[in-house]
Amino acid sequence: MISIKTVSEDETRNVGTMLGSILRKGDVVGLEGELGVGKTVLVKGMAAALGVKEYVTSPTFVILNEYKGRLPVYHFDVYRVPGPGDVYDIGFDEYIYSDGIVIVEWADLIRDILPAEIIWIKIERSCRKRNIAGKTSNMAQNRLFGEAGGVGGVRVLHMSFTGERYKEYENYLVSKIGKEVTRKEVDKE
Ligand SMILES: Nc1ncnc2c1ncn2[C@@H]1O[C@H](COP(=O)(O)OP(=O)(O)OP(=O)(O)O)[C@@H](O)[C@H]1O
Ligand SMILES: [Mg+2]
Repeated sequence: MISIKTVSEDETRNVGTMLGSILRKGDVVGLEGELGVGKTVLVKGMAAALGVKEYVTSPTFVILNEYKGRLPVYHFDVYRVPGPGDVYDIGFDEYIYSDGIVIVEWADLIRDILPAEIIWIKIERSCRKRNIAGKTSNMAQNRLFGEAGGVGGVRVLHMSFTGERYKEYENYLVSKIGKEVTRKEVDKE
């Protein structure tokens, strides 16, 4: 697993662009993280790298947005869906085994129907405790200046790549992003 810290929307979008540039037909990306944390920002970056020209937005009311890029991009947002069964019923499997790329916001809500091999990205707001000098914490800074003032908020993107098909992806991102990345070996059960 790798963890990448970003301090602005642009930085998160750039991580998406780097990942998007290596995605291939049949890849599945699951995104986890609370409301407004930056999932759609990441999708915008991936879509741009995949040659999507359309405006990318959370498909909250329609479950699925489909974009034409160098490959079809199927962008799901399952936040308002009652359960995994409902997503399965609209033919989720056909998108997974199709000619395109599947990206799911709120993927943690439909874990049961996701493939075992997946790129999983969990985004968190960085919330460091007050430091020794008593300076304002990141979280408070976010509230004060970040989101509202347009300066940006601190996020940590935890990315894990499960399965043989994604073997090279992690190394590629580490080499592209460089030493800003923290790496952790995930225990193999
Ligand atoms: N480091 C950062 N990375 C990404 N977005 C950031 C960052 N700092 C601030 N932001 C802001 O956070 C918001 C993220 O919105 P976004 O729509 O991507 O969230 P989301 O996770 O898709 O939410 P939802 O669950 O409602 O779909 C944007 O307004 C963006 O400007
Ligand atoms: Mg969203």
